[in-house]
Amino acid sequence: MDYMLEMRNISKRFGEVQALRDVNFVVAPQEVVGLVGDNGAGKSTLIKIVTGYYQQDSGEVYFKGQKLEDLSVAKARQLGIETVYQERALADQQTLWRNIFMGRELTTRNGFLDVRKMKRETEKLMVGSMGFTSAAVAPDSVVRTFSGGEKQGVAIVRALYFDAELIILDEPTMGLSLSETRKLLDFVGGIKEAGKSCIFIDHNVFHVYSVADRVVVLDRGMVAGEFLTKDIALDQLMDKMYRVAQTGHLD
Ligand SMILES: Nc1ncnc2c1ncn2[C@@H]1O[C@H](COP(=O)(O)OP(=O)(O)O)[C@@H](O)[C@H]1O
Ligand SMILES: [Mg+2]
Repeated sequence: MDYMLEMRNISKRFGEVQALRDVNFVVAPQEVVGLVGDNGAGKSTLIKIVTGYYQQDSGEVYFKGQKLEDLSVAKARQLGIETVYQERALADQQTLWRNIFMGRELTTRNGFLDVRKMKRETEKLMVGSMGFTSAAVAPDSVVRTFSGGEKQGVAIVRALYFDAELIILDEPTMGLSLSETRKLLDFVGGIKEAGKSCIFIDHNVFHVYSVADRVVVLDRGMVAGEFLTKDIALDQLMDKMYRVAQTGHLD
């Protein structure tokens, strides 16, 4: 099996806190992996190692079979690892098409900005790839007016367009309304359909269950178990997570 991402025996300590202990974690191509666990379980630390924000104390990370050494945030992005942060990444006062192409503008052969093409591509991405139907979400719309869910969608679209192969969402539904959350969960489906992989972290087991192919449960820095969502009912998963929180293991 060729994994998109393979983390082997990852440990990370912050002073007295052993945030991760011998964690093994993989993501297959075109797989959405849900990462769950209580506050402080180590979820964010694990993904920050993938995005080059933290260095592990020990263990190895492989991306598409290649061992990653001295990973930095810039290098991770270059490799196609993108984290979608809540709203932060968008320029509120700018139009949608400018936000999509910010820093990576398309130009004509003469070196001028190819505005027409960027708008066309934006339209195609929003409607085609992500199923945006709202007339308010047009290439010339100013992003400020978008809902939180729509802004997240824009960030995901941008990551997809620029060849991210692994898209990481850390608590993306935090602060979103119900309808925005539903929209966001649809976007995650779009990631998979585009042939990319995703790590999805959320407090809400229901959200994770509805988008993930596989769920990995972290507890106090260790992997407590994992399930294929097709093999387990939502209430079973919730039961197991409750048991993990109580005892630190699944049975
Ligand atoms: N930069 C840091 N400095 C010190 N402790 C940290 C730091 N980042 C995380 N931790 C600690 O590591 C543990 C795991 O944190 P985190 O990965 O953020 O958990 P989660 O995302 O699952 O809530 C927690 O005990 C947290 O307090
Ligand atoms: Mg976290």
